[in-house]
Amino acid sequence: MTRKIIIDTDPGQDDAVAILLALASPEDFDVLGIVAVNGNVGLAQNAKNALTVVELSGRTDIPVYAGCERPMRRPLVSGAHVHGPTGLDGPDLPDPTIRLQEQHGVDFIIETLRREEPGTVTLCTLGPLTNIAMALVKAPDIAARVRELVMMGGAYFEVGNITPAAEFNIYVDPEAADIVLTSGIPIVMIPLDVTHGVLSFQDRLDGFAGLGNKAGKAVAEMLTFSQRFDLDKYGSEGAPLHDPCVIAWLLKPGLFEGRQINVTIETASELTLGMTVADYWRITDRPKNVLYLRSADDKGFYALLNERLARLP
Ligand code: RIB
Ligand code: CA
Repeated sequence: MTRKIIIDTDPGQDDAVAILLALASPEDFDVLGIVAVNGNVGLAQNAKNALTVVELSGRTDIPVYAGCERPMRRPLVSGAHVHGPTGLDGPDLPDPTIRLQEQHGVDFIIETLRREEPGTVTLCTLGPLTNIAMALVKAPDIAARVRELVMMGGAYFEVGNITPAAEFNIYVDPEAADIVLTSGIPIVMIPLDVTHGVLSFQDRLDGFAGLGNKAGKAVAEMLTFSQRFDLDKYGSEGAPLHDPCVIAWLLKPGLFEGRQINVTIETASELTLGMTVADYWRITDRPKNVLYLRSADDKGFYALLNERLARLP
């Protein structure tokens, strides 16, 4: 039984790998659409990158939309220091020939959730949560219609990556994250605690390059570029691979471990803005609003990635 999903994304090389993993799995996913969001290198470039990745996958049947230009309250925060000026630095990919849909991405999310049977559409978010929050503000009725929302974002034991307290996707739009986490939608949160446990060591990058297809070569080149910032920062042998964990969880949840807890977003303090305050030890009686994943089987994760990416052109 395929799962209907909408992917909300700010490509970014790791977003690109997540999108490729989803589009390589048609027996698992009915991808209703891909929506670009601000974050990483800005909406226009993120949207162009989403088109580029869809074309690389060969799945040009998948519609791509542009969503919100900027966060709800704050100026945009760039991720270009990690992803490069184009957001997909590394491979030399042709400009996309496919084009964006006319409809705004937020309206696409609302319309799709209202059209599809309640409880059948999963939202997969790989960037800031602006589009989802704006959809909830414009159409509060959709909250009850979402099957679940699986998000890459947040950090607790691993602490922040864009500030000492906050992870990038949450920090860019903390107000949006707060709206989503208090919406009542069933949420699976995949934080840096998980993604810093699935490192792209050189042999794993070589494995992608060795798949013998365009997608594998592009993924190896993308991650070789984007890893340089993290290798230098963390002094590790491999860089975290964030966004594909969202799709991998849907494909093989047994690769991950976590628990149902409360996660609350800091939206006031400038010092800890965007922090995901995870009540991991259940000290408070705050509502357990999130399945918070804490670890992953990295060998199984990369085996899944190789198996699926090998299917692409
Ligand atoms: O903190 C990691 C997240 O920020 C990933 O989604 C990456 O693509 C960037 O958007
Ligand atoms: Ca992302």
